[in-house]
Amino acid sequence: MAPEASKFSTKRLTKNTLPDFERLFEKHPAPGAFSCWCTYHHRARPSVNEELLSGVRRAARNRQRRRELVENESSHGILVYSKGEPVGWCQYGPREELPRFDNYRSYRRPARESGSKRLWRITCFTVDRKHRQRGVASAALKAALQAIRDGGGGIVEAYPIIRWGAYREYLGTVSMFQKEGFKVVAPFGKSNIVMRRSVKCGSPGPPTTRVVGKANSGNSGNSSSSSIGMSMRRGDHPSRGDGRGSLLTARQVYSAVKGKRP
Ligand SMILES: CC(C)(COP(=O)(O)OP(=O)(O)OC[C@H]1O[C@@H](n2cnc3c(N)ncnc32)[C@H](O)[C@@H]1OP(=O)(O)O)[C@@H](O)C(=O)NCCC(=O)NCCS
Repeated sequence: MAPEASKFSTKRLTKNTLPDFERLFEKHPAPGAFSCWCTYHHRARPSVNEELLSGVRRAARNRQRRRELVENESSHGILVYSKGEPVGWCQYGPREELPRFDNYRSYRRPARESGSKRLWRITCFTVDRKHRQRGVASAALKAALQAIRDGGGGIVEAYPIIRWGAYREYLGTVSMFQKEGFKVVAPFGKSNIVMRRSVKCGSPGPPTTRVVGKANSGNSGNSSSSSIGMSMRRGDHPSRGDGRGSLLTARQVYSAVKGKRP
């Protein structure tokens, strides 16, 4: 992770931090990239007439929906701050709270293998453009795992991209999850894979705010798994930062899937 990571602090999304979440999302107003307000995965299926709404109206509706989710305490997420300013976000939650994946055709196989432990999902990252590639998303992920630990733990599932340019970067990158001990479970469409790790309940950590520093870097513990055996170093990004290119070949994904699972 980049050295700047030590400058970030994190807070969980609550009624108190909702204004910070809104400030972050207002930076790219509708019909910009963040008009979904991270509500997409909260709906099991598309809303009726969703496609008929203009980008602006859809954003207004989603913003209201987000407020309701926070009000009802049925939404989980981490905000990352730099010098007091919200610069990043990661959404996570139990499977029931984020049901959209259950209705994807490409999720059928991982669904069969999900077992009986409580399943958590990490579904969205959003990082202010001016703060990207400095470890913001990685800091958010670390804090989300701590929150899941505090929330009882279980199996944590992620869906990172294996190639840039399919507009699914919001699901995070493979290396971020590898560093936290996630292993590949299955391919997930053409652009993503399913990764999982287990998180045990209850290791210590302050409940709402933590500063993410160098001392926290690397695997944050409580993982039942190590890395998946494919390395993806900086030099492996064939077109780093230009929004295109493969991060992993299909062969690498499939050979990793044949290996050990959590
Ligand atoms: C994908 C995204 C979340 C990454 O956030 P970030 O804070 O820049 O990520 P980090 O700095 O923690 O880096 C994580 C890993 O991804 C890699 N990475 C990040 N951006 C990259 C890029 N543009 N090209 C290649 N690699 C990249 C980093 O190098 C790092 O890998 P490493 O540890 O092996 O070096 C961020 O680019 C983003 O928010 N994209 C837009 C998502 C979006 O549209 N969200 C709104 C949905 S409504």
